[in-house]
Amino acid sequence: MSELPESAGKGDDIAIIGGTGLTELEGLTVLGEYAMETPWGAPSGPVIRGEIRGQPVLFLARHGHPHRIPPHQVNYRANLWALREAGAARIIGVNAVGGITPAMGPARIAVPHQIIDYTWGRGHTFFEQAGESPLAGVTHIDFTFPYHEPLRQALLAAAHRCQMIVVDHGVYGATQGPRLETSAEVARMERDGCDLVGMTGMPEAALADELGLSYACLALSVNWAAGKSDQIITMAEIEQALADGMSGVKAILEEVIPS
Ligand code: HPA
Repeated sequence: MSELPESAGKGDDIAIIGGTGLTELEGLTVLGEYAMETPWGAPSGPVIRGEIRGQPVLFLARHGHPHRIPPHQVNYRANLWALREAGAARIIGVNAVGGITPAMGPARIAVPHQIIDYTWGRGHTFFEQAGESPLAGVTHIDFTFPYHEPLRQALLAAAHRCQMIVVDHGVYGATQGPRLETSAEVARMERDGCDLVGMTGMPEAALADELGLSYACLALSVNWAAGKSDQIITMAEIEQALADGMSGVKAILEEVIPS
């Protein structure tokens, strides 16, 4: 582990934030691991700089490696800040989710196009009180389209080249966690228009936008959301769907990096 070298990152790299089930990427040749500090504290772990098929890539495990930080305690601001400092311009957030609408069953992969944020109490903006934040002042980013469309399309094109069928849109409902939802909460989310439910999609997407980073999400459904099947949700089911679906996620990532 070392300090980030001056030469690291020209500011045009792609970064992957790995979620549950993705704390490492096998296709990644690791060139360095950087312990970073930010004005917002420490990120979830070292920023890994490496290459996939000769192309530079940054990687950060959102929950740490091994997985230890729950969704509501992830320091999203430090993670995004550190990746930008390390040279990222584009970020792909990988998220495990529960499926709400019929197309989103376990092991299904989706590239959502919209977000509804139900989280609360998280460090969700860089624009804090003037004087206290390195990005002082009142700024209202436009968040009409929360994901970067060219990056979304790059993910979909990579999936197509891998001959994988993925859901090309969807509304990601971000919940606070760490508990799963009640069936009434999921029913309400469905009425709101959510297709997927996860705990880590926000504030990550908005923070990326505040820093001017392009951001898209690659979501892997690991269970039917609460009340969407006649069973309760078990960790065994989630682990099985992670095992079934994560190889597809990795294939898409390894395909999209050189694009
Ligand atoms: N709800 C919220 N987050 C999740 C779920 C879920 O059902 N599955 C995986 N992450």
